[in-house]
Amino acid sequence: MSKVLLTGGTGFIGSHTAVELLEKGHEVVIADNLSNSSRDIVDRIEKITGKRPAFYEIDVADRGALAALFEKESVEAVIHFAGYKAVGESVAKPLMYYRNNLDTSLTLLETMARFGCHRIIFSSSSTVYGALSPCPFREDSPVGGCSNPYGWTKFMIEKILQDAARADEQLSVVLLRYFNPVGAHESALIGEKPGGIPNNLMPFITQVAAGKRDHLNVFGDDYETPDGTGVRDYIHVVDLARGHVAALNYAEKHTGTEIFNLGTGKGTSVMEMIRAFEKANGLTIPFVIAPRRPGDLAFSYAETGKAETVLHWKAEKNIEDMCRDAWRFEKGLL
Ligand code: UD1
Repeated sequence: MSKVLLTGGTGFIGSHTAVELLEKGHEVVIADNLSNSSRDIVDRIEKITGKRPAFYEIDVADRGALAALFEKESVEAVIHFAGYKAVGESVAKPLMYYRNNLDTSLTLLETMARFGCHRIIFSSSSTVYGALSPCPFREDSPVGGCSNPYGWTKFMIEKILQDAARADEQLSVVLLRYFNPVGAHESALIGEKPGGIPNNLMPFITQVAAGKRDHLNVFGDDYETPDGTGVRDYIHVVDLARGHVAALNYAEKHTGTEIFNLGTGKGTSVMEMIRAFEKANGLTIPFVIAPRRPGDLAFSYAETGKAETVLHWKAEKNIEDMCRDAWRFEKGLL
């Protein structure tokens, strides 16, 4: 069992990962500046697991504050979730994205080296594959076709981590390329709570279902896909969180860099997702067909064999579980 630091640990994926780690007996320390989450998430994690993670309200780019945390806690491994993640905002404010996402990662790596912490798992994204190769994306498919600064920060941090591991033979780096995380914990205590207008499909659907928005815009129905709408690999956030536990076990026994896709390997179109949500929850989702969104791909889904073979991890939940749990969480916010 390890003492694990989760940067951004009160966020959507971080909070679910904290729960899964605590349930497996690991110790969890959270560092988060609460820029896109709130302190009550720590109480909710405790409510679900019966264990309270240590919580530090700090900015990971604040070298002094981060060093003080490492001074106090004997951190054995880090899972690095902290970062800005809104695609549209990254196009409007690229410098803010590069500064924040790169600075936090560099300060974290330097601080880990200073305190002799040699294991890091990084929240990367399938967005690094861009439009360079056909699906399914494999871990050794070409990367770098990103369509926005957010994606490029993921690409650059992957590169920084790979170089750091090349230079330090004790370092163990695991890059996790997430596909499309959706759903919520079955307790409905934690889930996805975007501020403002949601960018992503599932939070938009749940807000339409809740009456917060009157309809969903389907961004394009003329793609080269079976029904013309975009196909994605949606993965339940609890499955994704469990992928981190598997990655942590792997990082304990290996050095160097290893990359894993975390997806289901199954593609679902926007129209299929709308219909699945309606069926799972007995609701109707009004929608209109709108123009394509710039930067969107027709297809994105994972080759999942490597994670299955090497991490012994596989996503278990289906689209119905994702739709049901996402709606249960959204209803709890009403
Ligand atoms: C997006 C980001 C990706 C990021 C990921 C995080 C873009 C171009 N990509 O992925 O970099 O890592 O979120 O989860 O923004 N859709 C609609 N109507 C909506 C919203 C979405 O039709 O209101 C469609 C999209 O066109 C797409 C699918 O739903 O076909 C999924 O979209 P979304 O949830 O935003 O995820 P990605 O675009 O795959």
